[in-house]
Order: sequence, then structure tokens, then C-alpha cells
Amino acid sequence: MSKKAFYSLLAVLVITATALSACGPAPTPTEAPAPAATQAPAATQAPAATAAPAFPVGIVLPTKNEPRWIQDETRFNDAAKAAGYNVQILFSDGDSAKEKANVESLISQGIKVLIICPQDATAAAAAVDEAHAAGIKVISYDRLVLDSSSVDFYVTFDSVSVGKAQGQYLVDHATGTGNPLYLYAGAATDNNAFLFFQGAWSVLQPKIADGTFVIKNSSQAVGLQSNATLTRDQEGQIIGQVTTNWDFNTAKSLAEANLTAATAADKGNVFILAPNDGTARSIADTFAADKDVKSYVITGQDAEEASVQYIIDGKQSMTVLKDVRTLVKDAFAAAVDFLNGKTPTQTTTYNNGKIDVPANPSPIVSVDKSNVKAAIIDSGYWPAADFKNLP
Ligand code: BGC
Repeated sequence: MSKKAFYSLLAVLVITATALSACGPAPTPTEAPAPAATQAPAATQAPAATAAPAFPVGIVLPTKNEPRWIQDETRFNDAAKAAGYNVQILFSDGDSAKEKANVESLISQGIKVLIICPQDATAAAAAVDEAHAAGIKVISYDRLVLDSSSVDFYVTFDSVSVGKAQGQYLVDHATGTGNPLYLYAGAATDNNAFLFFQGAWSVLQPKIADGTFVIKNSSQAVGLQSNATLTRDQEGQIIGQVTTNWDFNTAKSLAEANLTAATAADKGNVFILAPNDGTARSIADTFAADKDVKSYVITGQDAEEASVQYIIDGKQSMTVLKDVRTLVKDAFAAAVDFLNGKTPTQTTTYNNGKIDVPANPSPIVSVDKSNVKAAIIDSGYWPAADFKNLP
């Protein structure tokens, strides 16, 4: 066959194949077209023959202002690449209106599963209701969407255990009585802030009641200190007074205001419940700068690289490792189950104000200087080269 005849035949075959596939049956969920990737420009994408298989899943994360969520983006991209998935990750920039627009954009692109970490638990209800009405399965990721019956599954860590680990660390490092205790919490718009506080309170309250700790920065907490458990409203009253809003600057200003209001006798060797790593670094720096603070023990969570370095340097006492690789794996596994018409494995439920949302929470690890190398470096979570003076 001449070269010309060969290319004519090839052209006919390609056109026929294209026409046949266009007439084929409607795509099943797993065959639906994947949304366009945001990561790579079209020119660098693989040719059609080796393109990633369709994976009609969209991901919405709350903000790029915190290393935690950039980490989730990176880990999602790593896992997607390894599995050959093509996923789209959109950020809400801390704005519920942007979050809703992101969800609507994903709906219009034909996703079948939405993985969403809400910026504001209640405000996100409208967005996920809209997705659900369009036949999309909704997976709440790390933070629970509240007041919506449209949440099909919740992928999360055991957040009450996070708070317990933080409280326990403070208890384990306190001796005697009268130790000054400063409480800080996350954002009241985040259901996790309540779960973390609930866990911490369950461990700290008996040690407040027996005089080991004396609360120094919350009149609401002092008023409720004989309550072994708190109602959601009571937690809300305390959180309203000690919220960092998950914001480093708010955390810093609040710590400064607390230290200004405190006497030298309220300082000395202090114990600080800080809700996460970003706020812990701000609060720790603020306390370290106060001449009347002789020493401090401070908690955190997320095992952010900056906080791992703070722990190595003795500037932050502990963090809670919530292995985001596990969370991403769980989220993809749940999405694949839904795409295949299956139900993800559940071990418990979380009530979101409307329904009991099925979940299978992952365990957490308490990390301080004594196990930082094993938990963070040897586990492959962060590379040794990123740190100085590892123990
Ligand atoms: C997450 C934490 C994070 C915090 C602030 C919480 O919902 O569980 O890991 O540090 O939000 O973004």
C-alpha cells in the first residue's frame, strides 16, 4: 500500500471510530468525562491515548492562607497522580459565596462526587443541597457541613481525640496546684472547633476542679468550670471569648490582650491550650515575648512543617499529627465507592443537626520532641532535609 493510501485508510478508521463512540450508550458514572485539570495547561497534558481515566470528582477546600489546606491540595494532587486520576481542586478563599460559586461550577462540569471542606459549616448547606439536587454524592471532608440532609459521607479524623491529646499533654506536664491555664479555640463557624474543645475540656476539667490548673483568660470558662461536660451552647459561650477564628493575627492580638489584662502572678510557668499549629506559633511567640512568662507548655495540631521546627527548637511543645495522606486516601476510596454504586464503610455517625452522617474517622498521633523523628520523619510525612537540628 502506498503511503498516501495508508494515511487515507487511517483517516477513515479514525473518523469511523469517533462516530461509533459518539453513538455509544450514555456514559455510566465512572465513564463520565472528567472535569478539566487546573494543574497542567492543555499543552502539557498527555495525548488522548494515555489520558487519565475519567474521574468525575471535584474538590473544594477552604483557604490558601493556611499551610494545612495547601498541604491537602498537594497530597490530593500526589494521590491523584499516582492513581492516574484527573481531579479539579478549587479554593474558596475563606468566603462562603466563592465556595458556592465553586460548587456550582463543578456541578455544571458534570461531576458525580463532590468532596468539600466547608469554610463555614452552616453556610455550606445551600451549596451541598444544590449539588445533591443535581444527583451528586456529597462527601464532607475534615469539617462537617451542618444543617443539611445532603451529606452522604464524612471523611474525618477523630476530632474529639485531637482535643483529648492536647488536654492530656498539658495535664501530663503540670505538677502541683495553681498552674495558670490559658484557653484558645478555633472558629465558631467550624464544627471541629467544638469537637476539639469538647475533647480538651473532658481531660482538663477534672484538673481544673482539683486545683491543678487555674483558668486565666475566660470568665465564661471559669463560670462553667465545675461542669464535667458542656452543652453546645456552653461551649459556644467559651469559644466566643477565646476564639482565634483560625487566624494567626487574631490569635496574636487575643494573646496580647490576655497578657495585658493578666498580672505577673497570673503568668510564671503557664499552660496554653492552642487549637492548631498556626495559632500556636502566634500565641507561643506572644507569650515568649512577655518578661513575666518564665516557661510555657503549648499544644497544637496539624504537624505543619513550621511547627515541627518549633517543636525541635523547643518553641512549641506538641502537635497532633493528622496524616493527611490517610484522609486523602479515605476520601478517594469513598468517592470510588459512590461512583461504583457502593456505600463506603462506616463505623460511626456524626449528627449534623439534620441527619446522622456516616463516617469512619481515622486515628491521630500525639507528637512532641521525644517522638518527632519517628512520627514525622521516619514515617515519610516530611523529609528530614526540611528541618534543622533534628533530634
Ligand atoms: C482542621 C484543622 C485546621 C483548622 C484550621 C480544622 O477544621 O481540622 O486541621 O487546623 O480547621 O484550618
